[in-house]
Amino acid sequence: MLSELLLTEIVRLGTEKNLPLHRRLYEALRGAILDGKLGSGDRLPSSRELSQDLGLSRNTVVAAINQLSVEGYLICRIGSGTYVNDTVPKPVTRRRLARISQIARLSRRGLALSTVYCATQLEVQPFTSGIADFSAFPVALWQRLQNKHWRMTYPEMLDYSHMGGYAPLRRAVADYLRVFRSVPVDADQVIITSGTQQSLELCAQLLADHGDTVWMEDPAYWGAVKAFMATGLKIHAVPVDDQGIAPKAADETALPKLIYVTPSHQYPTGAVMSLSRRHQLLDIARRHGAWVLEDDYDSEFRFTGPPLSSLAGLDKDQRVLYLGSFSKVLYPGLKLGYLVIPRKLGDPFKQAHYDLNRPGQMPLQAALAEFIEMGHFASALRRARQSYAERRRTLLAALKPCLGSSAHISGAEQGLHLCLHLPNTVNDQALASRVGELGMIVRPLSAYCLERKDIKGLVIGYGYAPLDDIARYGPLLAQTISSYLARSEKTPKR
Ligand SMILES: Cc1ncc(COP(=O)(O)O)c(C=O)c1O
Repeated sequence: MLSELLLTEIVRLGTEKNLPLHRRLYEALRGAILDGKLGSGDRLPSSRELSQDLGLSRNTVVAAINQLSVEGYLICRIGSGTYVNDTVPKPVTRRRLARISQIARLSRRGLALSTVYCATQLEVQPFTSGIADFSAFPVALWQRLQNKHWRMTYPEMLDYSHMGGYAPLRRAVADYLRVFRSVPVDADQVIITSGTQQSLELCAQLLADHGDTVWMEDPAYWGAVKAFMATGLKIHAVPVDDQGIAPKAADETALPKLIYVTPSHQYPTGAVMSLSRRHQLLDIARRHGAWVLEDDYDSEFRFTGPPLSSLAGLDKDQRVLYLGSFSKVLYPGLKLGYLVIPRKLGDPFKQAHYDLNRPGQMPLQAALAEFIEMGHFASALRRARQSYAERRRTLLAALKPCLGSSAHISGAEQGLHLCLHLPNTVNDQALASRVGELGMIVRPLSAYCLERKDIKGLVIGYGYAPLDDIARYGPLLAQTISSYLARSEKTPKR
């Protein structure tokens, strides 16, 4: 039964795509797992049986199984066999969600929050955006530091964390931000959180009431959209152009309580907010008594052009809250980030953070403080920058043939992704699916749009994929885009 299903799929993939056999088997197995035809805990036939049933060589079968094991779909138990991993989440489609919500009685908010808009966590293939390469993280050193701090720990370190986190870590973050991001800050203004997502929730909970309006860039970062949905805020979409968020007089009728921006590298277009826009935004915030949330998620990775300073550095009125994260430079599962608050908000924020989130992880914070103080953070950053710079160069070179009057790139000066803009007549969702069929992941720009329908493109990441993969898949990506553009130019417009 399974072999028939796999064979049908392998034959279909063979006629539709020119993929090597191990890749077709990989796709067929992965599809069966994601569709639920192979359920979690199911045992796979042995590689010998599969190779006989499918008429494939043992090497081909083993290559496909190895790849699925590396990606976490399968788990090999020595002496027992290969099983579908229990941790593979089911794909959450809108239809499936509607069904679940009927059964589980999700609230309207619950349904909206559990809908996948842009990407699922399963999407880690060449060119996935938003993900860094954490395989280079110095695990052995980190383990030594953790052991040391666990050995030295005292009972208070096992309690919830008071006063916004471990003091030496707050000092180290403040020192870093003063020097590298021109944020005028001292350690008292830093709160250690479990990452930007928690910082956003805290800001929304403490600075706005249910039904208040938050201005968001359009297109937008979906993590922030969900944080604001969860706190019952009204989202007002303000279009972004090549100078960042571009508010018009009419926008000011939607009185903002919060304004969420990514000024150093707009997510996802990569636009850098110009100085005049920065002043305009601070002026709007001052006139309306709004708070500006500056999400500086990837400014550590700047490759060309002059260093940019932060919006918080320009703020004379203490209206900007600055949000940073260790997810990209270190690794996302670390779950540590920081929020810089104006001095007058210090006590209420620390108190509410304590009451709402019961923060902890003090030995972990102590290990991170030492990691920064001893210069390991700076070295990790230097290594990561070099490695990402090469990947970026390779991707840009590969994409060159598909650039021209109908395609251009923005946002390649910084960060771990770039945005390829395409004519508005292109169906970027269909193009992203076509790319996906070839074993790569790019995201359609339109999927990030809140209201606007006038931009199309692809968001392409170079942080996660190793250099070899970028060199191998880059030309295929460019060729796929070029042929798609050529075909859509030939198709008569209705
Ligand atoms: C725009 C943006 N902000 C923040 C983050 C980091 O969030 P967190 O610290 O919650 O991992 C990301 C991660 O992808 C991001 O894309």
